[in-house]
Amino acid sequence: MINSWNEEFTSNAREPLRDLSPYSTGSLEWLMMEHYQFSFLNTKFLWKAAERAGGFDTEAIKNELIRNYKEENGHAAMYKLALKKIGVDVGGREEFGPTTTFLDAVGELCKGEPSFVLGTIFATEAAAIFEHEVFKDVSEEVIARKCSGKEGKPLVGFHQMHLEGVEQSHKDELGIFLRGIHADQEVVAGTEDRPTLKPQQVLSGGRQAIHLMKMWWAGLFAELYAKNGIAARTAQP
Ligand SMILES: [Fe+2]
Ligand SMILES: [Fe+2]
Repeated sequence: MINSWNEEFTSNAREPLRDLSPYSTGSLEWLMMEHYQFSFLNTKFLWKAAERAGGFDTEAIKNELIRNYKEENGHAAMYKLALKKIGVDVGGREEFGPTTTFLDAVGELCKGEPSFVLGTIFATEAAAIFEHEVFKDVSEEVIARKCSGKEGKPLVGFHQMHLEGVEQSHKDELGIFLRGIHADQEVVAGTEDRPTLKPQQVLSGGRQAIHLMKMWWAGLFAELYAKNGIAARTAQP
């Protein structure tokens, strides 16, 4: 169910980015800097989520979140450096309200009940695939416009690496714990490889995270259109 909500959100959010020609290079660079903000805080979210997952009756989910945390650790620094190479300095960014609101709210969700937090992180990992796909396209467009193919290699490589299995495995490895659970079950007893779960909490955590991502992207698109003098489109994510 979280997968279908995510599918709906990402296919809508992908639409305005299919054709990047209406957007100025500066506005696309701005968009990348906003995405970097999530990358920067992602390890904090994962760490907090892993701590909360310590409340489950087995360690399996906590261990997976720690594995995920370790894999993501260092990625924000890599991203920052790759952006810098093409002349995009995240240090010079001005705060953008909808991004702050979004990141604060995700941080709050990560303080939830363990099953709820599992749903939240599963949803953000599912959306990460979409993010790396669109930001790889945005990166390639900006790099082509600036004729900085050589300098742009680390940035394209950063997104490529995530698409070549990193994000799919983050999503799938958490997805294993969600196999065969149904929304109408209040509690699903733990097994050897899975802790006791509360399916309704999982779904609620996933739904709320996707709602926050939708709102964030709506804010990003509104600003992107404003920066380019484009009237707001009817199809909002
Ligand atoms: Fe990463
Ligand atoms: Fe991930």
